[in-house]
Formats: sequence, structure tokens, C-alpha cells
Amino acid sequence: MAKDQELVDRLDRAKLPQHVAIIMDGNGRWAKAKGLPRVAGHRAGVKKVREVVRTSQEIGIKILTLYAFSRENWKRPRREVDVLMRLLQEFLRRECPNMNKNGVKLRAIGRLKELPAGVQRVLENTIKSTMDNKGLLLNLALNYGGRSEIVDAVRDLIKDVQKGVRKVEEVDEETFQEYLYTAGLPDPDLLIRTSGEYRISNFLLYQLSYSEIWVTPVYWPDFGRELFLEALFDYQKRERRFGGV
Ligand code: IPE
Ligand code: IPE
Ligand code: MG
Repeated sequence: MAKDQELVDRLDRAKLPQHVAIIMDGNGRWAKAKGLPRVAGHRAGVKKVREVVRTSQEIGIKILTLYAFSRENWKRPRREVDVLMRLLQEFLRRECPNMNKNGVKLRAIGRLKELPAGVQRVLENTIKSTMDNKGLLLNLALNYGGRSEIVDAVRDLIKDVQKGVRKVEEVDEETFQEYLYTAGLPDPDLLIRTSGEYRISNFLLYQLSYSEIWVTPVYWPDFGRELFLEALFDYQKRERRFGGV
């Protein structure tokens, strides 16, 4: 444990990512490799969500965005989707007191109105209950799709133009961002993807423009504090140029 702390202390505080986004992938393959049903992988994955949230708090990361369910994930067998929704509901119900104890503030991005009513209810309650917390912002991407986020933003923007709230000429990148689900949040500095796939899978298409990408072959249920720290050390070695020299 002491050695662990040493590792954290070796991080350069001045170069910490403010916002980390994670594509938590590989639950199914993890389970399959162990001869277990896919849902066993999802259950094991939830434990790692807790671990990564804890580690983020410990390190002092400000925003953690987790891709938990994509709009495309509805294509999966009904039973698997049901289990994922139930796990989500359980996670929120169980973690709400912990979030309050640790100052974690919950937010969610995605087409939330299309989630099952039970999930929506506990989500709203948890968001309300943690609203004034000042610690880590835990941002869950649920029924999220990057393209639908952009379409939703365009629709809302057009409505505002029609209402006369905005002028077409004043629309720039800054105003456009205010219409995204992530309004008010800085873009992710670091994107982590587990289980070795080199793709974005419709995640934060607009916001990832200049994010540093870190991929590990390790499946999500085997990801944890140590690998998270490794990703952060690698991130601190990167030179971010944003198109400059
Ligand atoms: C990530 O693991 C969890 C969700 C997408 C909900 P997967 O379920 O995608 O696992 P693999 O990619 O099939 O191994
Ligand atoms: C991305 O993983 C979505 C989440 C982690 C929630 P997927 O497993 O759905 O992505 P693909 O199908 O490999 O692109
Ligand atoms: Mg997957």
C-alpha cells in the first residue's frame, strides 16, 4: 500500500488530466475466456467502475466520463440488455450514499428519456441528491451516441434560432458546445479504451478532437488502479501540440 502511494506521489500534479474518458470494453470476452456467461463479465465490470472512481478521487481528477451503454448496444440480446439495465440501477442505488460521503457529483449524458423508467427514476434521484457535491464529477454515458448528440444539439440550436434567442451569425464553436450534452465541461484530455480495440465506437465524436488516446489489451474486468496509473504516467509523457509547433 505504501509503495502504491509512492506511485501516486510520482505523478506530476501540474500535468494531471482534468477530464478522463473511458470506453469500458471487453466484459463479454473476459467472461468467455473464463467459460462464464457474458453477464458475469458485466457484473465483474461494475466492481472496476467503483475502483476507478475511487482512484480518480484519490488522484484528484476533476471529471471522469464512463461509456456505460451506447445507443447501438440495444442491438444485443434482450436478456443481456435487461441485465445491464438492472446492474446500472443497482449500482446507482448502492453507490448514492458513497457518492455523498465522498463528495462525488453525478451527471449523465445520452438520450436519457429512452432508458427504462426505473433507471430514469434512480438516475434523477442520484443526480439530485449529489447535485451540490464539490468533488469528482462522475459523468455516465447512457444510451449515448456521438452522432445523436450532435443531431440533438443542432435541433436545439435551430429551435433557439427560430425563437430568436440566437442569431445564425453568432453561432461558433463556443456557442455550439453549449448545446452538446457535455455543455460546460472541458473536453477529455485522455481517452482510455480497454480490450484492445482501436476505435471510438461513436463516443464523444465532437469532444475527442484533441484527446490523447491510450489503449490497453486488458479486458475491463481486469482493469484497475495500477493500469489506470500507468495510463496517467504515459499521458504525462505525451507532448500535446494542438496543431502548433
Ligand atoms: C463492455 O463490454 C460493456 C458494454 C458495452 C455495455 P462488452 O459487453 O462490449 O464486451 P465485449 O466487447 O463483447 O467483450
Ligand atoms: C463501446 O463498446 C460501448 C461501451 C463501452 C458502452 P462496444 O463493445 O459496444 O463497441 P464495439 O461494438 O466493439 O465497437
Ligand atoms: Mg465490446
